[in-house]
Amino acid sequence: MTLTFKDRLDLTTIRKQFPVLDQSVNGNPLIYLDNAATTQKPLTVINEISRYYTQDNANIHRGIHTLAERATATYENTRKSVAQFINANESEEIVFTKGTTDSINLVAQSLGKYILKPGDEVLISCMEHHSNIVPWQMICQETKAILKIIPINEGGEIIFEEFLNMISERTKIVSMVHISNSLGTINPVKKAIIEAHKLGAKVLIDGAQAPPHEKIDVKSLNCDFYAFSGHKMYGPTGIGVLYGKRSLLEAIPPYQGGGEMIKEVSFTQTSYNEIPYKFEAGTPNIAAVNGLNKAIKFIESIGLDEISHHENNLLLRATKQLNEIEEFRPMGTASEKASVISFNIEGVHPFDLGVLLDAKGIAIRTGHHCTQPLMERFNVEGTARVSFAIYNTLEEVDQFIWALNNLIKKLI
Ligand code: ALA
Repeated sequence: MTLTFKDRLDLTTIRKQFPVLDQSVNGNPLIYLDNAATTQKPLTVINEISRYYTQDNANIHRGIHTLAERATATYENTRKSVAQFINANESEEIVFTKGTTDSINLVAQSLGKYILKPGDEVLISCMEHHSNIVPWQMICQETKAILKIIPINEGGEIIFEEFLNMISERTKIVSMVHISNSLGTINPVKKAIIEAHKLGAKVLIDGAQAPPHEKIDVKSLNCDFYAFSGHKMYGPTGIGVLYGKRSLLEAIPPYQGGGEMIKEVSFTQTSYNEIPYKFEAGTPNIAAVNGLNKAIKFIESIGLDEISHHENNLLLRATKQLNEIEEFRPMGTASEKASVISFNIEGVHPFDLGVLLDAKGIAIRTGHHCTQPLMERFNVEGTARVSFAIYNTLEEVDQFIWALNNLIKKLI
């Protein structure tokens, strides 16, 4: 007998792995719909952090004692898992960082200083998170390069013809978000990478929202760099990944100096370590790296096909019911969309929605979602946003819609 997605997904068992979900907030069972901000953590991740500190705690790559060797082996094992998870050629192409923001800053500073000259261009899109805007503004200011913005349409999709018109031999870097945190739009990054490469530009993909929802294959994408965070994929905060092609990681200078990133230091000269260590100055967040490995195992234990199928069901159910609300004003209606819904309710401030839903135990995000230029594009101050994860249920969607309808009745 072939199992359907529904048969295979045992949400009760999945939810039991997330202790935080089993609580009341303001007298109601918690409904956590703020997963684009950060996902909750399964017990395997939480326990691994505790296991590391209770059994293995030691600095890595430095000691020859047993604990140091155990800690190093577990840490390097995660690098292999991450490489497999995103189908990188080799684990040396995986740099551990503090998060997506840190990864993007690394590329902006290291690659930017390496290739940008006055008058060169860097392209980003109008839907970028501040973390994929500000680092480029900083390096463009420093190198006198020009930052250009790819426009988007009313549905929240990149206008690809505009992108093709803007890109030229002057474009040295394209940095684009894979899945928009504010709109849910899944960008045609593979197509964009092909076009950028035709003109010799290097491409960084901001993948902060993508790995928990769909299979990332950096080889098939052929991106030069790919950045993401542990905490948005059921892992700990404070850990991120930068994938980079070996040839580029070897070519660009390190972003930070310190211990571990060196081969030899004297007061007159320093030579740098091999990749990826050249980019990992100082003692890293070892416990979080180990936790990230468990997060990958959690995702793999369910399977990304099942996860995206379930999340899509949640998205369809919520979108259908929201569309029935007269005052509902969506922001982001792309044809390729992940499980994120940004919206306003005409006549109600999004902040009020957030506070009043919280009073019912429902956690959503409100505000500009660190995408102020995007809010300006849509001429709104901010939005309310719900974002789903594997542990959310169809019943939770219905309860959220019921609570929202009740609020609207009272407020309007
Ligand atoms: N970037 C995160 C969000 O979208 C914090 O909420």
